[in-house]
Amino acid sequence: MGVVVVGSANVDLVTNAPRFAEPGETLMATQFEQLFGGKGANQAVAASLLGSSVFMVAKLGTDSLGEASIANFHSLGVDTSHVTTTGAAASGVAQITVAASGQNQILIVPGANGELCAADIDAAAPAFAASRVLLTQLEVPVPATLAALKAGRAAGLTTVFNSAPAPTEPLPDELYPLCDVVCPNETETALLTGETALARSMPTDTIEECEAAARAILAKGSGAVVMTLGGRGRRCMLVLPGQPATHVQVPPHLRAESVADTTGAGDGFLGALAHLMASCGKPLAEALPGAVHVASISVQRRGAQSSYPLAAELPPDIFGVEAGDGEPKAAPAPLAKQQTEAAPRRSHHRSRLAAAAGWHAVDTLVTSGMVLGVGTGGAA
Ligand code: ATP
Ligand code: RIB
Repeated sequence: MGVVVVGSANVDLVTNAPRFAEPGETLMATQFEQLFGGKGANQAVAASLLGSSVFMVAKLGTDSLGEASIANFHSLGVDTSHVTTTGAAASGVAQITVAASGQNQILIVPGANGELCAADIDAAAPAFAASRVLLTQLEVPVPATLAALKAGRAAGLTTVFNSAPAPTEPLPDELYPLCDVVCPNETETALLTGETALARSMPTDTIEECEAAARAILAKGSGAVVMTLGGRGRRCMLVLPGQPATHVQVPPHLRAESVADTTGAGDGFLGALAHLMASCGKPLAEALPGAVHVASISVQRRGAQSSYPLAAELPPDIFGVEAGDGEPKAAPAPLAKQQTEAAPRRSHHRSRLAAAAGWHAVDTLVTSGMVLGVGTGGAA
């Protein structure tokens, strides 16, 4: 019994630059890559790389990027029985700028992700029946997320709702009681507290304010709030009803002075959290150190999926299956090879997309008279 993820799948068009451009400014960047991304897909891959059996429920376009995304899921051991395609929109893409500081700016064109609907969730009932934990986010339409939470609750799963990207409208009241765990970052925590309009959100400028805002989310009916605090002490905070908040810090040896790329850190955190609860039988509080561990590694590597560690890279005392505590699992077949060949896996992971999507970039650039490769620039 593993994880079912209902969410987005994108192709990330990632440009590395010394800094972010000002409005109207043209900057020389240092590198461009096309990588697999999307919050749902990232979370699914993070859990799969750790050894969970993972079902993805998503919508892609009937285009080369969609085909490449499905191939990527297969190569990383993610079940795609419930990944469907549509001719109504192109596969989702995210245009990402990563500054030398490791911070990012992201523009998303949801495309086919916006076509995921409640009927797709209904059709994925076998995946829910075969899973222990549901992960869902806000990069697909809210009705699809809501349907996923209802299906997860009906199937008796632990329901984990990642409120990313930050909602621009208040979420339906009925959503919160369907969540065993709500997992927001600081910005999202504030926005979730808006009662009738975003302008009435609670502040999250201090840790005390963050905790108060998290308790306001609990008051809406959710079972627990796990707040990631990447920008504030590099940790996460668990807030449960009637108990003091607990903080889980990044281990000292993983506290890098500088970060390579924070893209997908939250997704790595969620994927690891779901894996530890679903496949290692850990209760929420005991799963958090492993989730923080994976996220801290991910910020030291470039990309989202390409930054997530394999199980073999992680401490067995945190990631090993405890006797009688969950089901011992073997990694999916393609993953077993990857676990002994971490470096080839990463280059394979990138080259697959470059090969599948290259025609698109080359076609675009040739018609504009430019000559450019895919994945140009500095070392991976
Ligand atoms: P994203 O949207 O980029 O996926 P997020 O905003 O949802 O991320 P954050 O709160 O930034 O999530 O970070 C998630 C987790 O990643 C943190 O709880 C922490 O474990 C880890 N993390 C983030 N930034 C750093 C950092 N600079 N150093 C170490 N760990 C970090
Ligand atoms: O959380 C990171 C992800 O956000 C990227 O992979 C991008 O696709 C956007 O969805």
